[in-house]
Amino acid sequence: RHIAVIMDGNGRWAASRNLPRIEGHRAGTKAVQEIVETCGRLGIKFLTLYAFSKENWKRPAREVSRLWNLLEDYLRKKDQELVKNKIRLLAIGQRNGIPASVRKELEKVEGMTRDLDGLTVVLALNYSGRAEIVDAVKRIFRERNIDLDRLDEQTFARYLYTASIPDPDLLIRTSGELRVSNFLLWQMAYSEIWITPVFWPDFRRLHVLQALVDYQKRERRFGAVHGQPAADV
Ligand code: FPP
Repeated sequence: RHIAVIMDGNGRWAASRNLPRIEGHRAGTKAVQEIVETCGRLGIKFLTLYAFSKENWKRPAREVSRLWNLLEDYLRKKDQELVKNKIRLLAIGQRNGIPASVRKELEKVEGMTRDLDGLTVVLALNYSGRAEIVDAVKRIFRERNIDLDRLDEQTFARYLYTASIPDPDLLIRTSGELRVSNFLLWQMAYSEIWITPVFWPDFRRLHVLQALVDYQKRERRFGAVHGQPAADV
């Protein structure tokens, strides 16, 4: 149902070709295009892409502004194509920190695609998993009539940015790094993880299929023992 992706390795892809880092990000948008198309065709319902973390602001100003420009361009150029392919676009993250022009474009595309029922592409923008949890706690405290004794995991999850989105079944990370990098910390509790050494700009349809074949061989136990009934406690 839901694939989440940490698109890593754009900088190294560019460096290995003696290109500026932004060229890696630009090439990365082509991989985004192919993966969105593939997931749509496969009937996957949600695809979450880690496009800009809160920590990414620590990068050189030039790289940061060009990354946002790329995202804005993507939103501006792809809107009709998203509609044509029945793709709904959503963003998660701290919206008020997103540059105004990107936010405007984003909200326009979110509005245009709101009722589409194909694949939902979730862009994580100015996103941090820890900040998301803190933001949820703040929202809960602001709701004066909440009964804290009755607050359980299901209710808590309704205060996250992902309230309307199921937890990821599969996390894909490119470029071989073995980290979750502050991505969907709450939601990833039982996600299967698939890591490939391939840099994001080289990630193609074939790699999605490899990840899915591998996923299908996994046994998801969610903490239980397969084939054994739960204890009667
Ligand atoms: C990580 O590679 C990648 C990012 C921080 C940005 C991801 C953005 C894109 C793929 C472009 C636009 C996205 C969309 C949705 C249109 P890195 O720069 O950390 O690579 P490195 O670890 O090799 O330096």
